[in-house]
Amino acid sequence: QAQKFEPWIKAHELTAKLYHHVLTQTEQGKEAYRYLQERGFSDEAIVRFQLGFAPDSWEFLSSFLQKRGFNHRDIVDCGLVAERSFDGKLFDRFRGRLMFPLWDKDGRVVGFSGRVLGDGEPKYLNSPESALFNKQELLYAFHYARPKMRKKNEAVLFEGFADVISAYEAGIEYTIAAMGTALSERQAKILRRNVDRVTLCYDSDDAGMNAAYKNAQTLTSAGLNVEIALLPEGYDPDDFIQQVGADRFKNDVLDTSFTFMAFKMRYYRRGKNLQHETERMEYLNQVLDEISHLPRAVERDHYIRQLADEFSLSLDALKQELTQRYKARL
Ligand code: GTP
Ligand code: MN
Ligand code: MN
Ligand code: MN
Ligand code: MN
Repeated sequence: QAQKFEPWIKAHELTAKLYHHVLTQTEQGKEAYRYLQERGFSDEAIVRFQLGFAPDSWEFLSSFLQKRGFNHRDIVDCGLVAERSFDGKLFDRFRGRLMFPLWDKDGRVVGFSGRVLGDGEPKYLNSPESALFNKQELLYAFHYARPKMRKKNEAVLFEGFADVISAYEAGIEYTIAAMGTALSERQAKILRRNVDRVTLCYDSDDAGMNAAYKNAQTLTSAGLNVEIALLPEGYDPDDFIQQVGADRFKNDVLDTSFTFMAFKMRYYRRGKNLQHETERMEYLNQVLDEISHLPRAVERDHYIRQLADEFSLSLDALKQELTQRYKARL
């Protein structure tokens, strides 16, 4: 098994080195390098995360790998280059993109994600899945974060690679990202084997809030304690660290994270006008439903009191609401 994939691993390692060389040492990589500098990424981070640049060419990588003696089948099957359907000719999959190597849990490069410079579609292009690269399993930078997260007994989960890199620049190293907003049960299980707590810190937009809700559920089901760190509307962690600063990210975002329940109270509030009676009632119903599912009486009491205070409702009335919900479930 390991034997069979040795050329795949070798090809990926070499490719990562090649793209990194192009980015850092050649004229072709200048524009991408400047782009990274403008985004605030240091040389040290560029080296640590082995960032690279794939030149805008159809044959840069394919001819390089063939010259290095890799066989046609291997470099296609491992996902590094693509094959033209009508004549089998090889061509580069990644062209004119900033390259992020993707590592497996042991730190071997098993795939790439390539970002367009500036605007364009798709923003990120990923390697196809292979016997070595499984999107449901991969956590970006896991091999770097693992010792730190075990020590802290906590991991911070982001949406994007750029967020992980900026957090590293800010001195926060127990962070990983899935391949975008989707988090699988397998990824949750991998985290569970390493830590007791995961703090979710997703982009402050609709996609990020929805994903945080869904993934908090997945992580909770896997037996993890979940907290959710919220950013001001419109920011992602990378934007916030670069524009507002590392200290404020630690103090105002990570250290003021919310429990899942407190997050839900904010989540249901989004887009509602609570001055409106109908919307306020809808909100109260959603939150009471959530409170009624909390396993601990102390927690239920805490949130009921919060609702009573905020909406000037009697504690008795709210407790009756909970009782009705329990009865309805019997
Ligand atoms: P920057 O704009 O470079 O800061 O990217 P970001 O990290 O803020 O990305 P964004 O929040 O848009 O998306 C988060 C993650 O989702 C990325 O790191 C990718 O893993 C994934 N993603 C984003 N756009 C695409 C896309 O067009 N295709 C695919 N397959 N994945 C994407
Ligand atoms: Mn996003
Ligand atoms: Mn983002
Ligand atoms: Mn963005
Ligand atoms: Mn971003």
